[in-house]
Amino acid sequence: MTTPFTNPFLPWPKVRHYEAIPADGNLEEYQRNLAKDTAYILTHANYDEAKAGALPLPPLLADPDTGRAIHSPGEWPALRQKHRENLERILYGKLPPLPQASHWEILQEKEVFQGTCLMRIVRLTLENQGRSHQATLLCHIPRRPYPVPAIVALNFQGNHACTPDGDVPLSPWAQLSAHSRGAQANRWDFRLLCDAGFAVVTCAYYDFYPDHVLGRAQSVFRLFHPQEELTPRDRDYTAISAWAYGYSRLREVAAAFPEVDPAQIWAHGHSRLGKTALWTIAHDDQWAGAVSNCSGCGGAAISRRNYGESLECIDHVFSWWTTGNCRPYAEHPETLPFDQHTLLALAAPRPVLVTGAREDQWADPMGQFIAVLHAQEAYRLLGRSGLPSTEHPPLGELLMSPSQGYYERYGIHDVTDEDWRNTLRFIRQSR
Ligand code: GCU
Repeated sequence: MTTPFTNPFLPWPKVRHYEAIPADGNLEEYQRNLAKDTAYILTHANYDEAKAGALPLPPLLADPDTGRAIHSPGEWPALRQKHRENLERILYGKLPPLPQASHWEILQEKEVFQGTCLMRIVRLTLENQGRSHQATLLCHIPRRPYPVPAIVALNFQGNHACTPDGDVPLSPWAQLSAHSRGAQANRWDFRLLCDAGFAVVTCAYYDFYPDHVLGRAQSVFRLFHPQEELTPRDRDYTAISAWAYGYSRLREVAAAFPEVDPAQIWAHGHSRLGKTALWTIAHDDQWAGAVSNCSGCGGAAISRRNYGESLECIDHVFSWWTTGNCRPYAEHPETLPFDQHTLLALAAPRPVLVTGAREDQWADPMGQFIAVLHAQEAYRLLGRSGLPSTEHPPLGELLMSPSQGYYERYGIHDVTDEDWRNTLRFIRQSR
């Protein structure tokens, strides 16, 4: 399949600076330069579809080294593994190994929403070689005939920011607890989801990797590596892989709840966590499926397009998200042995919904649609249907089959009730 675009590919505006990432401590100059670079990148991004790229995408169903095409479902697992290793080596790095031990305890539990739902605070402890690492989970579980399906999603500003409920403890991360209680409650309609019969399990993404250039030392990687190996330059250990690891640890807790159906646990993520949700289910086959909300570049959007955010921007501005091998490819995305349709295909045959928003052109909704279309080949190989149409749907219209879904809604980069309603529609028809 070719992309619907025929315009010549134009290179992205190049990032101007490449100051070394400081080993530790003095971040001032680094941050000053980064702010300048970011401003430059933002003002030079292309938003003209006429200038968007038409580079051919690397074939999904062919070996990236030899070009040998595959034709049967039995050949997919080995090729899938190869694609995943390439994504790991170039973009996201490896996930940490399993810890020697893990356990969780309920810290608080109470009824909410007029007794229709249980709110449960859980502390998860991971242990390895005498070190331990903790995460605090906020869970909502509808009181329904059990078992119920569940949505697992990391959050950006701490559990306390997801709800106005004063009983939810403040996040221990100073950067997060500075945000006021309930500040992102608009993104978490627990009531809507519980009324629909879904449990929801969330946790601050900082609990697995604080999202800044010095975050590695405090991340979950510290269970497995000494501090000297966790500097800003140790780019094998990325935030996206640490968060993906977090998603899977949360999935295990949700699956252990007697109220939850372990076969019906869905990964949901917005933006950088939408990128992460896709990387998560590419690794862990126990997820039922994923919803990737406005994930954009490095998520569901094609890297070879010259539109909105570029991989070069991510690799520079968010250097802790990508591996140290990424830069030459980020500067020349046409040399990548994969593109983001490959990441989407790693989920197959499990269902994936990709969403975008009209005013979020930075995340290149059309580039996401193209990736979904191209990922269909893997679904078809495995005997599943792709999208029902190759035309971009009108704004607000959810295009879906039981295996793939896509829509672009009106509005900004956010998680809205409309997104949750579409998520529920998609999951229901996919189950
Ligand atoms: C920035 C970044 C995106 C990311 C987004 C987010 O805009 O450039 O790649 O998806 O933040 O996570 O909100």
